[in-house]
Amino acid sequence: MTQTNTAPVETARRALEYVKDGQTLGLGTGRAASVFVELLGERVRAGLRVRGVPTSIATAELAKKVGVPLVTLEEAGELDVAFDGADEVSPDLDLVKGWGGALVREMIVAASARRFVVLVGAEKLVRAIGERGRIPVEIVPYALPLVRRRLAALDLAPVVRAKPDGSPLVTDNGNWILDCGTRPLVDPSRLERAVRVLPGVVGTGLFLGMADAVLVQEGHEVRVMERP
Ligand code: A5P
Repeated sequence: MTQTNTAPVETARRALEYVKDGQTLGLGTGRAASVFVELLGERVRAGLRVRGVPTSIATAELAKKVGVPLVTLEEAGELDVAFDGADEVSPDLDLVKGWGGALVREMIVAASARRFVVLVGAEKLVRAIGERGRIPVEIVPYALPLVRRRLAALDLAPVVRAKPDGSPLVTDNGNWILDCGTRPLVDPSRLERAVRVLPGVVGTGLFLGMADAVLVQEGHEVRVMERP
């Protein structure tokens, strides 16, 4: 499967068709979501009235820079649509997210929205969740010894995500991430339940049954996959 570092720009353009004047939007994190925020900023500067709830400090900074007004989750109430990228998309629209480290806020924002629209390049499509080999789990740092041992017992080979200087990467929530090595999973919801119950686990990158639509960039074309 091909790997690419380019953002799926055409999916971000298509995603704008889901936006209506007056809406409150969830703003994801990562390359695809950043392109969407930049294009949204152009529309706002041209007169579109929307409010955004960012899923990370980085996205908040970008939204401010391009002129998208921000509100807190508290001020927003229920969101109209959340837009975000993903690291894996299965045929039934289950996702892996969090390779960019913002999984917990991304899940909170997606769960707060009436619709969740995902933007990816075709390299993110998998036959089974886990196929690309990495599922992130955000943990309270104090819990590391326990959670690492339990994840290893689940055959997940957990590794603390590190910064270039070797120290643990700290999430926007002040937590750490354990990247779990995986093979394609027959039953991702079973694994999700097994991981979520561990004391100290704040969230996982398994976004199961959450996406309403996935916009997939294939060359210059965009294919829309929708939940039935
Ligand atoms: C951030 O935590 C992630 O969930 C991103 O949404 C995901 O990794 C996709 O990012 P890219 O669009 O940069 O591939």
